[in-house]
Amino acid sequence: RAETGNDQNTYGLMTRPNKPFMIGIGGGTASGKSSVCAKIIDQLRYLDSNGRQVVIISQDAFYRDLNEDEKKKAIKGEFNFDHPDAFDYKRMLQTMKDLAASKPIMIPKYNYISCTKEENGVFLEQPDVIFVEGILTFYFKEIRDLFHMKLFVDTDADTRLARRVNRDVLRGRDLEHILNQYTSLVKPAFEEFCLPTKKYADVIIPRGADNTGIYFCLYSFASSSISFFFFFLLSLLFFSSFLAFWL
Ligand code: ADP
Ligand code: C5P
Ligand code: MG
Repeated sequence: RAETGNDQNTYGLMTRPNKPFMIGIGGGTASGKSSVCAKIIDQLRYLDSNGRQVVIISQDAFYRDLNEDEKKKAIKGEFNFDHPDAFDYKRMLQTMKDLAASKPIMIPKYNYISCTKEENGVFLEQPDVIFVEGILTFYFKEIRDLFHMKLFVDTDADTRLARRVNRDVLRGRDLEHILNQYTSLVKPAFEEFCLPTKKYADVIIPRGADNTGIYFCLYSFASSSISFFFFFLLSLLFFSSFLAFWL
């Protein structure tokens, strides 16, 4: 992070305001949101010679605290973690606003086994690029409007269920719990709350982390500037609309 001393950072040929670039990643459960973010960051480690600090925040860090009744339901897979009301919307919005204003902030760490969060999670100090991933990242308008770019990971439902089963077994849950929760709560909530947010995405990534095409975009991001990256993705969008028009 090259400071110029006048509230501006210089990257290669471009100068931009001292504010982070915020990218939202939405998509159904186990679609590959976390994996896509991790792969992008991994690639940037090799590609980004400007030393930008890129971080991932999961929306799961903003699950609200549960009362005793809700905790009992959660243990049996009967609490709806896929409904917008399961999140502490106000806290997430405030955190996002603080990050957008480059204020240092602590992000809690969520524990899927105890269904609680540890307040002393990850301390973020003025990152340059922030990925925020989660099932309902684009659901709340005020949060959605804070993103400079919105990506939606679009992975087939069977693939997602298979991955979720494997992941939840590793989290110590039994098959009956996992499948009951999925069919009665996760799938209906996906259709009602998550899928309709796909229309807000600037870019839709089919097949999640398997989609190597997205890493091509990273070359322009890392070798030049954030604005150029943005321009590149926009050109990609225009190009696909152009093709759709002709076909
Ligand atoms: P999300 O953040 O959307 O829930 P994750 O990236 O955590 O999704 O992926 C869910 C699970 O599927 C994880 O256990 C991950 O290791 C696995 N996974 C993700 N992408 C792939 C892939 N392309 N091939 C195989 N397994 C994958
Ligand atoms: O990583 P992913 O996007 O799949 O995380 C969101 C999912 O985590 C939701 O579909 C929700 O059902 C699940 N979840 C859970 N138990 C919790 C918290 C979230 O199964 N305690
Ligand atoms: Mg995830």
